[in-house]
Amino acid sequence: RAEGLMDRFGRRATDLRISLTDKCNLRCSYCMPAEGLDWLRKSQVMTAVEIQRLVRIGVADLGIRELRLTGGEPLVRADLVEIIAGLRAENPELPISMTSNAVGLSRRAAALKAAGLSRINISLDSLHAETFAQLTRRPFLDQVLEGIEAALSAGLTPLKVNAVLMRGVNDAEAPGLLGWCLERGIELRFIEQMPLDADHGWTREGMVTAAEVRSLLSEQFELSTDPGDRDGAPAERFEVRRIGSAELLGTVGIIASVTEPFCADCRRTRITAEGKVMSCLFSREEVDLLDLLRSGADDEAIAERWKQAMWAKPKAHGMDHVGLDSADYVQSDRSMSAIGG
Ligand code: GTP
Ligand code: 5AD
Ligand code: SF4
Repeated sequence: RAEGLMDRFGRRATDLRISLTDKCNLRCSYCMPAEGLDWLRKSQVMTAVEIQRLVRIGVADLGIRELRLTGGEPLVRADLVEIIAGLRAENPELPISMTSNAVGLSRRAAALKAAGLSRINISLDSLHAETFAQLTRRPFLDQVLEGIEAALSAGLTPLKVNAVLMRGVNDAEAPGLLGWCLERGIELRFIEQMPLDADHGWTREGMVTAAEVRSLLSEQFELSTDPGDRDGAPAERFEVRRIGSAELLGTVGIIASVTEPFCADCRRTRITAEGKVMSCLFSREEVDLLDLLRSGADDEAIAERWKQAMWAKPKAHGMDHVGLDSADYVQSDRSMSAIGG
């Protein structure tokens, strides 16, 4: 129990991310191909009871202190509210958050909150219907905006919005998105695009870097480094003021996974929708827990296999000391949607 999910480099994973499904109702070009992917069959996906058991083992035996539910899109699971209620009943104090695209959220935000969801992060790359539809290949901007308002009203806060900028598509919107989020008390985070698209179309040159994001925002805002502790979080946070004004408007985060990797402080362990441990977003090895769950293994055996998987966690992006933009980086066969964001 004492050591929990340690790896060879002294990191300890306390932050569990579980993907509830590989399916999604959007087709963001940096993640999925237009035609979608070969979805898992229902029997391959963890049930609510199996998810609950893994969380129980993680919390009781492996030092997990935070849980995030991801996808695909978690809202496409019909039993989402039941899953959260079950997890909450067993773990009254555990922070449970979710990462979602907010399509269909307006109808369920209050129920999710009542079931015990603590907070939510929502992806939103554009406030213009056409650009949104171009990026996600679906015309659902209004639904997403309604979902965000509903989440705020339901108290799924602090609410964060994640945006990926694509050059020539939505990069000019960076200051506009920030202004919109600040008005609503939302923390916006810009994420450098990572090579996790199913089409393998990522290029270093195509990516809008953290430095570029800062420069785009400086057209309207002054950013100063947030004095607070970053504490293992992926985002570097900045305080935001209008140029020439002293009034603090809020904060913005930049997640520079490519140009300023934060692997040394990583505290994550991930489980895919089909019950496989991935020690890192970019790991090419997966360790199956679902076969153990379904063959009557006891908690100790499951915890032991999970520990072994994390012991093998790579130092950085799968290649020691080599960044994601390195020429010999080998892209995973899994897209972001099949890993869990
Ligand atoms: P908070 O607890 O709210 O800070 O959540 P989060 O930022 O961990 O969760 P979210 O799902 O919103 O993740 C935002 C983005 O961070 C993801 O889309 C990824 O781009 C990036 N990210 C998440 N986990 C990892 C990771 O393990 N490695 C890297 N390089 N990037 C990650
Ligand atoms: N690079 C960076 N972020 C990505 N996301 C999806 N694919 C990528 C990628 N290739 C983001 C989404 C969402 C989160 C779960 O992951 O925008 O906010
Ligand atoms: Fe769906 Fe998220 Fe992938 Fe967009 S990034 S297609 S919302 S899983």
